[in-house]
Amino acid sequence: MVQYLHGYNTQEQQRLIDQAGFLGPLIYPSVDFSDCKNLLEVGSGVGAQTAVLLGLFPELRITSVDFSEAQLAKARENLSGFSDRVTFVNQDVQYLDLREKFDAAFFCWALEHISDPQAVMHRVKSHLLPGAKIHITEVFNSTFYYEPASPALAHYYRVYNQQQRNFGGNPDVGAQLGNLLAHAGFKQIQLSRSGFHLDQSQPDELRGFIEFWKMLMKSGAPGLLDTGAISQNEIDAMESDLDGILADENAVFFYQFVQAKAMA
Ligand SMILES: C[S@@+](CC[C@H](N)C(=O)[O-])C[C@H]1O[C@@H](n2cnc3c(N)ncnc32)[C@H](O)[C@@H]1O
Repeated sequence: MVQYLHGYNTQEQQRLIDQAGFLGPLIYPSVDFSDCKNLLEVGSGVGAQTAVLLGLFPELRITSVDFSEAQLAKARENLSGFSDRVTFVNQDVQYLDLREKFDAAFFCWALEHISDPQAVMHRVKSHLLPGAKIHITEVFNSTFYYEPASPALAHYYRVYNQQQRNFGGNPDVGAQLGNLLAHAGFKQIQLSRSGFHLDQSQPDELRGFIEFWKMLMKSGAPGLLDTGAISQNEIDAMESDLDGILADENAVFFYQFVQAKAMA
């Protein structure tokens, strides 16, 4: 059985759509596939990013790969209006095997779940034409910082990240993107960071990101309850701590993710 931090229930599938909309303004300023025709999307989920890419780049055809048939079924439903521009493939990208070669590749929040990200970078590179563009967005969970001290949030976050490691993933894989691309032979590697640094000078943004963070944290809750790693009381306490940050006059809420662009 596949072990996956966020699970595949309908609430999680909707969260991915909401997340793509909410974080879009942070993710997409560095994405440019306007001169590309044929894009490989790795770990495409329910097609939340696929929809954004199709909208931004009307010339693009996309092959979306995910190893969850449940996600792909939802993606087909979500993107039913684009059947001429999207192909769905059910494969584990660690063993990616397609006949086609692509002039672009896109990853968003996928590599963090994969036990051998280097193998994936090699596999993807072998499916790209010389000069193809790649764009990756990934977590760097060790950058999460907040004030005031919030012990229940700190505990939950530790357990959440440990679950990802136990399932073979890496919650800090964003920090490794440059190395992964370089070792796979990509050139012109450019790294950048995005995310949020919020406090009471921007109360509305602070509220929005705290609500987003609650949903993100709770996406791991069913799996954490299943393995007995966390109790319902601890989930409730984590949420109360986040409300406590929002109410604190000296609140700080900070997180950075990493983006990488390169050429095959
Ligand atoms: C957090 S979701 C992100 C989905 C999408 N990129 C987005 O941003 O909405 C990660 C997706 O990667 C898929 N995934 C994880 N490991 C995979 C693997 N080895 N091969 C293919 N898909 C994988 C999961 O099934 C899940 O749908």
